[in-house]
Amino acid sequence: MTGGARLDGSVEVVGAKNSVLKLMAAALLASGETLLGNLPAISDVGIMHQLLERLGCEVVETDEDTTDRVRIIVPERPRDEAPYELVRKIRGSICVLGPLLARTGRARVALPGGDAIGSRPLDMHFAGLERMGAEISVEHGYIVAEATELRGASIWLDFPSVGATENLLTAAVLAKGTTVIDNAAREPEIVDLCRMLVSMGSTIEGIGTSTLQITGVEALHGTSHDAVADRIVAGTWAMAAVATRGDVLVRGANAAHLEIALDKLVRAGADVDVRGDGFRITMDRRPKSFDVVTLPYPGLATDLQPQAIALLSVADGTAMITENLFEARFMFCDEIARMGADVRTDGHHAVVRGKDRLSGAPVRATDIRAGVGLVIAGLVADGVTEVAEVHHIDRGYVRIENSLRGLGAQVERVDVEG
Ligand code: UD1
Repeated sequence: MTGGARLDGSVEVVGAKNSVLKLMAAALLASGETLLGNLPAISDVGIMHQLLERLGCEVVETDEDTTDRVRIIVPERPRDEAPYELVRKIRGSICVLGPLLARTGRARVALPGGDAIGSRPLDMHFAGLERMGAEISVEHGYIVAEATELRGASIWLDFPSVGATENLLTAAVLAKGTTVIDNAAREPEIVDLCRMLVSMGSTIEGIGTSTLQITGVEALHGTSHDAVADRIVAGTWAMAAVATRGDVLVRGANAAHLEIALDKLVRAGADVDVRGDGFRITMDRRPKSFDVVTLPYPGLATDLQPQAIALLSVADGTAMITENLFEARFMFCDEIARMGADVRTDGHHAVVRGKDRLSGAPVRATDIRAGVGLVIAGLVADGVTEVAEVHHIDRGYVRIENSLRGLGAQVERVDVEG
C-alpha cells in the first residue's frame, strides 16, 4: 500500500465476528433449524462452519459470496468432540463448550488458539461450570467436561470475562433451576447472544447489566436472528478516517456501542454525525493526542487499542496508553516502530509521542487488530508499506483492500510465493 490518501466515501459494516461465532455455537442448544443473518464473510466464520459440521450439524450458507446468511440444522444429539485442528485456529471455538455440555452432558473441546495477544486462561469458565455441577479436567490438550445434570448456581466472576459469561449463559439456559452470574460481561455481543437465547425460548433477566439471572428450561427451539453490527470494525474505520484526515460514512454501525471511542475522536478534533443507520466522521486537521485506557464494555475496547496507537503515532502531542486486558498486545509497538513511530512500552503502559509522519516499511501482522493497526499506519506513511501475514486481518475484516480502495486508498493484495 502507498500512503498519503485521505479516506473519503462510505463503508458498510456487517455482523460482529465476536458475536456471530457465539451465535453459531448457541444454535447447538436446540435441535432443528436456526437461521442466522448479517454474517460477515470472514475466515473465522468458515472455521466455525466446519466445526459445526464436525459436531454433526448441517450448515448451509445461502450466499456463498457474502456469507450473508447461514442455516444450521442441528441433530437430536450432536457429537461432543471439538477437534484440535479446527479449535486451534480460533479463540471463539471455546464457546461450543457450554452448549455441548448442556445438550449432551459431555464435551471434549481442544484448548483453543486464536490471536497471540497474551496468556488467556480459562479458570473462570471452569469454576463457573463446576459450580453448576460439571466435572472438568484437561487431558492431552483437551478440555473434558461432564455433567449428568447441570444445576442452577450463584456465580461471581473475578473479572467480567466475555468468554466465561458466554459459556456460563449457554450452559445455564438448559440447567435445572436458576443461575445468577454476577460481574458478568455486558458487551453488545453478550446482549446479542442473550436476545438470541430468549428467541429460542430462554428466560434471562438483567440483559445488558452485570447481573444476569437465567432460569433453565427443559428444551429450546430453533430461531432466526440477525447478528449485531461489528463495533470494532466500525471503530477501526473511524480511527482510519481521523488518522487520514478523511470523511467517511460508516453505514450499518451502532454509534452507541462506540461511545467512548467516538468521544475520544471528537476530542482529537473530529466531527461525528450520528445517523439512523450509522455515523459520518470527518476530520480536517492533524488529530490532537488523547490517552487510552482499555477496559471491559462500556470502557474502550482492547480490540481498538492498536488502531488508536496507529492514529496517535501521527497526532499532535503525547499519549499514554494503559492496556488492562491483554499484556502481549504491545508486541504491535515493535512493528509500528519500524515505520518510525515513537512508542515506548513499560509493562501494561505505552507512551506514544506523535510524529509529523511515518515512513513506509515492510511489517508483519501478528494478530487481527495489530494487522489493521499497521494498515492505518501504512495509510499515513510516506511511500510503500507491505503488511505481511494478512490472513490475520482476514479473520475479522471482509476483504479490507476492497473497502480501502473504495475510500480512495492505494492498496492491493499481493500473493507472495513461499
Ligand atoms: C473476547 C474477544 C476478544 C476481546 C476480549 C475482550 C472473542 C472471540 N474474543 O475474548 O476479541 O479482546 O473478549 O473484550 O469474543 N481471563 C481469565 N480467566 C478466564 C477468562 C478470562 O483470567 O477464565 C482474563 C483474560 O486473560 C483477559 C480478561 O480476562 O485478561 C478478559 O478476557 P475475556 O473477556 O474472557 O476475553 P475473551 O472472551 O477471550
